[in-house]
Amino acid sequence: MAVRLDGAALAAKLKERIRREAAALPTPPMLAVVLAGEDPASLVYVRGKERDCAECGIRTRTHRLPAEVSQEELLVLVDTLNRDEDVDGILVQLPLPMGLDSRPILHALSPEKDVDCFHPLNAGLLALGEPRFLPCTPAGVLELLDAYAIPIQGRRCLILGRSLLVGRPLAQLLTTRNGTVTLCHSKTQDLPALTRQADILVSAAGRPDLVTADMVKPGAAVVDVAMNRGADGRLTGDVDFPAVESVAGFLTPVPGGVGPMTRTCLLQNVLRAARFRRNC
Ligand code: GUN
Repeated sequence: MAVRLDGAALAAKLKERIRREAAALPTPPMLAVVLAGEDPASLVYVRGKERDCAECGIRTRTHRLPAEVSQEELLVLVDTLNRDEDVDGILVQLPLPMGLDSRPILHALSPEKDVDCFHPLNAGLLALGEPRFLPCTPAGVLELLDAYAIPIQGRRCLILGRSLLVGRPLAQLLTTRNGTVTLCHSKTQDLPALTRQADILVSAAGRPDLVTADMVKPGAAVVDVAMNRGADGRLTGDVDFPAVESVAGFLTPVPGGVGPMTRTCLLQNVLRAARFRRNC
């Protein structure tokens, strides 16, 4: 039976440390959140981030805008937040409402306040192996592996999904840690033959039941990044949990695995931004 990678418990421990470190700063860090429109999932995510910050002594200011907000108005707000001395980090909640292009908005963020690590400068620094901020979900996956002493160096790491948010930056982080990385996607051929070789298998594809027991090497660490909402409203990952649990060595639950770690890494980035801006 696989050991459960308990992200919720680890996140609680890390948040305690973040709270102490935030309290040691001359003034509490401040995260500005930009939320455009009424996407129900985004509303839930933003509320969760506000709560996490409050628990750790990090101030938040959420700018709620109507779905009809223009690209120009969003750019003006980002510019204002970039210049605001009281703001340490800026998070533009995605997806933006239809008709808005997120790229120019994210490119307009001050790289020093880009706590999501979405700005091209921060993505470039990550690719060079000298990151300033760590992308939240990939960093959360690594924290989880490290906490359970799962070795990366020399191991075969396979990632399902090449998204800019998860798959690609995670491939870079695992490569920097000397993992042997295979990045798979919807066009990959004979996927099970590849996944069966993986010591660390990370699924970030967003397809329920994509990872079945026959695709998993016995004893492998299986990390499920996906959060799929079923017809009944329940949250599921990509992994057939009951079946894979009897084959894998380690396995994340959904929810309670990677999700809380992602949120914790955002808090760490806000703290990092605050220190960076205060030179401490
Ligand atoms: N929407 C879903 N996940 C994220 C995230 O990590 N950052 C932002 N800004 N929006 C999201």
